[in-house]
Amino acid sequence: MDFENRISAPEYIPEDAEVDNPLRPRSFEEYIGQETVKENLKIFIEAALQRRESLDHVLLYGPPGLGKTTLAGIIAREMGVNLRITSGPAIEKPGDLAAILTNLNSGDVLFIDEIHRLSRSVEEILYPAMEDFAIDIITGKGQMAASYHLPLPRFTLIGATTRAGQMTAPLRDRFGVVLRLELYTPEELAQIVRRSASILNIHADEEGALEVASRSRGTPRIANRLLKRVRDFAQVIADGVITLAAAQEALNRLDIDELGLDKIDRLMLQTMITYYKGGPVGLDTLAAAIGEEAVTIEDVYEPYLMQIGFLSRTPRGRVVTPQAYLHLGLTPPGVQENEQLRLE
Ligand code: ADE
Repeated sequence: MDFENRISAPEYIPEDAEVDNPLRPRSFEEYIGQETVKENLKIFIEAALQRRESLDHVLLYGPPGLGKTTLAGIIAREMGVNLRITSGPAIEKPGDLAAILTNLNSGDVLFIDEIHRLSRSVEEILYPAMEDFAIDIITGKGQMAASYHLPLPRFTLIGATTRAGQMTAPLRDRFGVVLRLELYTPEELAQIVRRSASILNIHADEEGALEVASRSRGTPRIANRLLKRVRDFAQVIADGVITLAAAQEALNRLDIDELGLDKIDRLMLQTMITYYKGGPVGLDTLAAAIGEEAVTIEDVYEPYLMQIGFLSRTPRGRVVTPQAYLHLGLTPPGVQENEQLRLE
């Protein structure tokens, strides 16, 4: 599957320009949605500021593209400290992490994206760093070996992961604050689309913005990406205004249906229906059948399909729901053709 080129893939691609992206909200006031997470964070930040302490370590988890890096930026800004961004796979050796930690200033925020992908040896440096703000480094070998105890400045670690379940318990337990980000509602995404459109100097009317939002799988990163593509169509067929018609035309041509499903989502559902009678199908079987990695299915496709009630997880595997059959124009099992009309 041509996953890399999916316009509706929530994974970060360079075009999203994480750093200095003008679409990225810089304060809680600008940040739309995730109300509970915001309210909690505001209180923890205020309390830490009042006590003149660093903020406790924060773990943010949830599907990709929902704004974990953005929140880390806002937290650092509200605390008035520097933000250092890195990721689990980028920290290869314990020494790499030691170098980052010893260069932090007091109170700084260290953001580690995909923290579940840290190696065990790196993770072991992180435990005392998080708990005691110190690291133990061993240099040399045999008779020449020496151990140094290095105190660190008090810092805040913000870890982000799409899979809290894959983190080791000792690492998870060292976060004082654990917050789960949820997929956005179409109304929240429509507000984001209108905000982004005005920053990009594009006019999106209410219905046009809601149409882009409804097809963005609950994910702001996808909404912003679709907005940029829809703009091109709007320019040519609707005098530059993102109207309902312009958005529909553009998104249909991009093969994204009214619910935001693309070819791969439909292939997955159709494969389950055609070859496995709608399930239950085991994750690995499904992955092999559509030529995707099991983790990609779990992180990228399933959260949205489950949110819209097209897929359910049972102990025996994944099951396609009757709503998904109807969306694909198929008759759900156990429903007579003449009954289907009532369901629709
Ligand atoms: N752009 C991306 N995510 C956003 C959010 N949550 N609020 C406002 N703008 C955004």
